[in-house]
Amino acid sequence: GLALIATALLAYLLGSVPFGIVMARLFGLGDLRAIGSGNIGATNVLRTGNKLAAFLTLVFDAAKGGVAVLIARALVGEDAAQVAGLFAFLGHLYPVWLGFRGGKGVATFLGVLLALDWRVGLACCATWLLVAVVTRYSSLSALVAAALSVIWMLVFGQAQMVVLALLLGSLVYVRHAENIRRLRRGEESRIGG
Ligand code: G3P
Repeated sequence: GLALIATALLAYLLGSVPFGIVMARLFGLGDLRAIGSGNIGATNVLRTGNKLAAFLTLVFDAAKGGVAVLIARALVGEDAAQVAGLFAFLGHLYPVWLGFRGGKGVATFLGVLLALDWRVGLACCATWLLVAVVTRYSSLSALVAAALSVIWMLVFGQAQMVVLALLLGSLVYVRHAENIRRLRRGEESRIGG
C-alpha cells in the first residue's frame, strides 16, 4: 500500500544522487560526460586519474543502494527491501536531476545485493574482482558478476531474489550495450591503461 509507494519514492530519490558527478565537482575533475566513456560511474571517474574520487564514487553509489534496502527493511519489511533495491537502482540509471540520463548501475547493484544478503553481495563483488584482476575490463567484470548473481542467490538459498536479479541484471546488460560492442571489437579500455 502507501508504505510501499513511499519506500519506492524514497529509494528512487536516494538512488538518483549521482555521486560520480558530486565527486568530480568536489575534486575539480571537470565534466565526466566529456571524459572516457562519458559515464557517471566510478570506472569513468578513475579515468581522470583521481583514485580517491573513484573509490569514493564506488563506495557512495553502492551505499545509496544498500542504505535504501536497509531503511526499507527496518521500516516496512523484506518485500519492501527488494522494492527499495529496485527503485534505488532505477534512480541511478534514470535520475530525474540529469534528465533521466544516468549510469550503468554496477556499484548500486552490488550495494543492493550486499544489503539484501551480504553473502550474495560478497560473492558478486568477488566475481567482479576476479574478472577485473584477470582481464582488467571493468565492464566485462560487471557483466559476468550480473549474470552470476542469479547463481549465487540459488547457492545461498535466496531463490526469492532471483526475479530482482534478472531485472537488475538485464538492465546492467542494456546499459552496457556500447561496452559490449567495444569488447567484441577489442576496443574496450582497460582499468589502469
Ligand atoms: O560501472 C560501469 C562499468 O561497468 C563500465 O564503465 O565507464 O567503462 O563504461 P565505463
